[in-house]
Order: sequence, then C-alpha cells, then structure tokens
Amino acid sequence: MKHLISIRDMTKKEILNFLNAAEKIEKSEMRPKFPDSIMSILFFEPSTRTRFSFETAMKKLSGKTITMSGSAGTSMEKGESFADTIKTISRYSNIMVIRSAIEGSVRYAAEIAGIPVINAGDGANQHPSQALLDLYSIKKTQAGIENKTIAIVGDLKYGRAVHSLVDAMSHFAPEFYFISPRHLRLPKKFRDELDRKKIKYNECAEIEEVIPALDIMYVTRIQRERFVDIEEYEKVKNSYVLKPEMLKNVKNNFKILHPLPRVNEIDCGVDVTPYAYYFDQAENGVYIRQAIISILLEGAQ
Ligand code: CP
Repeated sequence: MKHLISIRDMTKKEILNFLNAAEKIEKSEMRPKFPDSIMSILFFEPSTRTRFSFETAMKKLSGKTITMSGSAGTSMEKGESFADTIKTISRYSNIMVIRSAIEGSVRYAAEIAGIPVINAGDGANQHPSQALLDLYSIKKTQAGIENKTIAIVGDLKYGRAVHSLVDAMSHFAPEFYFISPRHLRLPKKFRDELDRKKIKYNECAEIEEVIPALDIMYVTRIQRERFVDIEEYEKVKNSYVLKPEMLKNVKNNFKILHPLPRVNEIDCGVDVTPYAYYFDQAENGVYIRQAIISILLEGAQ
C-alpha cells in the first residue's frame, strides 16, 4: 500500500497485516526505526487522540514530526491553495498525515504529494486508522474478530469512524445492531452494501433491549459540528446515555468502545466497570499508528 485513505481500498489480508504488525510492535517483537524520516501532520479540524497518537507513534519510531494546526499563521491565509500547501510540505517530509473537513480532500492530496499520505479523517467520510485501532481493540478483547455481535450507537449518518468500522468489520462476518435517532441512521449506501454482502444487521431505537446479546458496544458522540441546523442537534443530542445500571445483564466478554471524545453519551460511572475499554482503545492507537507509519515508509523505500 502506498497510502492509507479509505478502508474500502483495503483487502482483508492488508487489514490483518496492519493488526499483526501492531501486535508485534506492542509486544516488542518488532522494533522498527526511522531516525531519518520526518512526518508532517496537517490538521484542519480539531483532534486530541489522532494527532497526539500519530506524533507519539512517530517519535517511538525515532522519527521526527512537523505540525500544522489549521491554516492560521500559514500562507494559506495569504490565499495559497490546499494543493500548493501539500506540494510544498511534501518536499519537507517523508510521510504526511492529514485531517480535513472536506470529504475526498485527503485522497486528492495523496494524488499530488509524492510521499505516503494517511487520512486522519475527512469530513463525514472515512477515518481508516481509527477503524484499524478499533479492530485491534476488538481482537485484543475478544480473542478474535470473526463472528462478533456489535452494536453501533449514536451518529451513524455523519460518523466517519462508524463508516470505516462498518466497512472494516464487514470482512469478518459480524452481526450489527445499529442504534440511532431516525435522522442519524446509517446511510443507505452502507445498508445496501451490507445487504449485498449478506451481513446481518438490525436497526433499533433503544440500547437496553440489545445489550445482553452483544460482544461489543461501540458508542459515538452526536456531532454538533456536522449539523447545519443547530435546533436539529438540540433535539437529538441526548438521545442515548449509557449508565452503569444498564450493564447488569451483559456477556462476560462484553466491552464498550468509543472513538472519543465523549460528551455525555457514556456516564463517567461506566468508566470504573470492567466493560469500559475506551481509554485502552485510545492507547491502542499508538501501536496501530506505529504499524501504519512503518508499513507505508518501508513501502516507499
Ligand atoms: N477518535 C478521534 O478521532 O479522536 P480525535 O478527534 O481526538 O482525534
């Protein structure tokens, strides 16, 4: 692979290759080093986990980073185009990570950059490194990824982490429960794809009725920034709040994942239960991103 732009570009074998590399890195069975490499990190949307874990991953690989947070203070403020910015910064670095609000912009950057490009989230479209760390988290907690029953809760319409996860898990024979407000259903193109692949899914309005059947509950935030009409956001923002008392009848292997940040969709009381895995999941982001950077840099050599 030259770039990591969308889970839809990847085969099952390529996905497993990233997960296996992450496992070896976490267990120190593999210690890749890139002391002569520089990673440029261009984030045009806010981030804590993705940005800092990519930076941590590159530093653990003995590489260096240069960072751009928004266009403020750069020549984009003077009218320089996105394309010229990418072409220029790619001359200063060996690998580039981009987060953008504009769907498709990171794929475009990959076409003109001349170095490996990683999509760290493009609008409501894709977040492939998140999906890989989600699969890695499922593999670690469930002793495998095949045949899992997974509920995905919250903003299924605009959630790029959700879209990438559905695409990625579709290689591993899951059964899905999709739980969302009616206006934030998983888009039809994903449901059609699941129908075509004969993957079982159920759409529900309530969390509690499905919890006993689940291996994984993947909770997401209702994303205020994706709503044009803020009144529509106000109507649905508190649709789901997971509380400790809702977890009385769960399977032994049950785990709660969340790409984070959370607002109030998981009560902090859940954090101390044995089912909360979301901060471990965020840590797994470092191992998976070390694997992604290593595989792409090795491929570029
Ligand atoms: N999961 C995720 O993308 O988090 P950040 O927005 O903090 O990077």
